[in-house]
Formats: sequence, structure tokens, C-alpha cells
Amino acid sequence: MSWIREGELNLLERISANILMAGPMPKHVAFIMDGNRRFAHKKNMERQDGHMQGFNKLAETLLWCKHLSIPEVTVYAFSIENFKRSKEEVDGLMELARQKFEKLLEEQENLEKHGVCIRVLGDLNMLPLDLQQVIAKAVIMTKNHNKCFLNVCFAYTSRYEITNAVREMALGVEQGLIKASDVSEALLSECLYSNNSPNPDLLIRTSGEVRLSDFLLWQVWKKNNQYDMGLWRFRNMPEVR
Ligand code: FPP
Repeated sequence: MSWIREGELNLLERISANILMAGPMPKHVAFIMDGNRRFAHKKNMERQDGHMQGFNKLAETLLWCKHLSIPEVTVYAFSIENFKRSKEEVDGLMELARQKFEKLLEEQENLEKHGVCIRVLGDLNMLPLDLQQVIAKAVIMTKNHNKCFLNVCFAYTSRYEITNAVREMALGVEQGLIKASDVSEALLSECLYSNNSPNPDLLIRTSGEVRLSDFLLWQVWKKNNQYDMGLWRFRNMPEVR
């Protein structure tokens, strides 16, 4: 299955979309794509098939976002913590990513037509070399597209991203490129993998759990403490870690 699906919404989806679009719409939605293993277990499927279904749901979600004119989506596809899972599961997820990024490369025309820019956020050095190469090709191929943006967090955690940003600033000070007094929230934001994106307006966790799991910790903050739309839940729920 392809990432960028063509097609129309069904009647119920169209009605829902019209109702949603009558109100304020998010410009950037982030997704934690979990629950795949629980889904597979419930349906008596192989774990890898659960992850594949998770990807199919992502493609469906991107189609909804396209119809809802949401220009930017960020997805948590593979956390650095996920490397601790069994070799079989990690290899399976790397293979799924390899296949899906290779498929992306075949879809150049479609990506160009819709102006989709793909970015991959994370430490790609942690990935097998062939996967790094196919990801790099997809990112380079779409880097000048500017109608919509899909950020795939892969080999990512927020604490790693922030640590990396702090290290970059420290290096800048050490090399005399900046002064210690230049270090600021704004500069740190510039050093994050997400530096090209506005902060998300809405964060959705597909399994329904209410935890951030080291995802976009810096970026879910909103000016004036206004947690728009879905994010209010994270502020109000006591079990948030
Ligand atoms: C975390 O929870 C989810 C993952 C480790 C993988 C999510 C990845 C995909 C849906 C495929 C994405 C691929 C690309 C190329 C973007 P879990 O789903 O393992 O299960 P749990 O929450 O039920 O334990």
C-alpha cells in the first residue's frame, strides 16, 4: 500500500469533515502510532501484520488530513527505546520501513502533484545503512515540495533530540561560533530536528493511552500556555508521565 492514497471520502467521512471544518482547524497534527501489537493480539494476527495494519491506517489518516486541508503531520514511527524489543520485531519494523520508503521513491509523480515534502526526524546513524540510503533518497527527492509536510520520527526520542540540540550549542560555544549568552529557548528550538516546523496544535495517540512517551516534549508547549484542542487532555489528566 502506498503512503499517498488517491480517492474520495465516503458519505459519513464527508459529513464529519464538513462539521470539523466549520470550526478551528489544526495546521499541524502529531500522531503516536501505537496499539499495533494489542490490535494484532486481539485479532489473532502476527505482530508484524499488526504493524502493517498500523501503516495502512497511517495512509488512511494522511488521506483524511489531505481532505481536511491539514498541511503538516508528524508521526512517531520508531522510538530509540523500540531498539530494545526482540531482534525479530526490530528487524521486521526495519524491513517494513525499507519497503515503504522504497515505495515512496516509486511515487515521485504523485508526491510532486500533491507537493508532499517528507522529512525524517531522528538519529539515522542508528539505522541499517541500506535503510539510511533509501530514507535519504526520499528526503532529497521531496525537499523542495512545499504544499504539505510529513515528518516521520524514526530512531527518535525527544530527550535524545533535546540532548543533541544542547550538544550542538555547546560545540558552537567551544568553536567560538556563538557565545554562551546566545543560548536561549529560541536557539535551542532552532537546533531541534523539528526546526523547520511550527509546533503541533493537536497530538493524537492512536491506542487511546494518555502519555507522551518521550515524543515532542519541547514542541507540545504552546505560547501563553494555551493548549489547543486535544492537548488539553495532557494538561488535565493526572496519570500523565
Ligand atoms: C509502538 O507500539 C509502535 C511501533 C513500535 C511501531 C509503529 C510503526 C508503524 C505503525 C509502521 C510505520 C512505518 C513507517 C515506515 C512509517 P506498538 O504498536 O508496538 O504496540 P502496543 O502499543 O500495542 O504495545
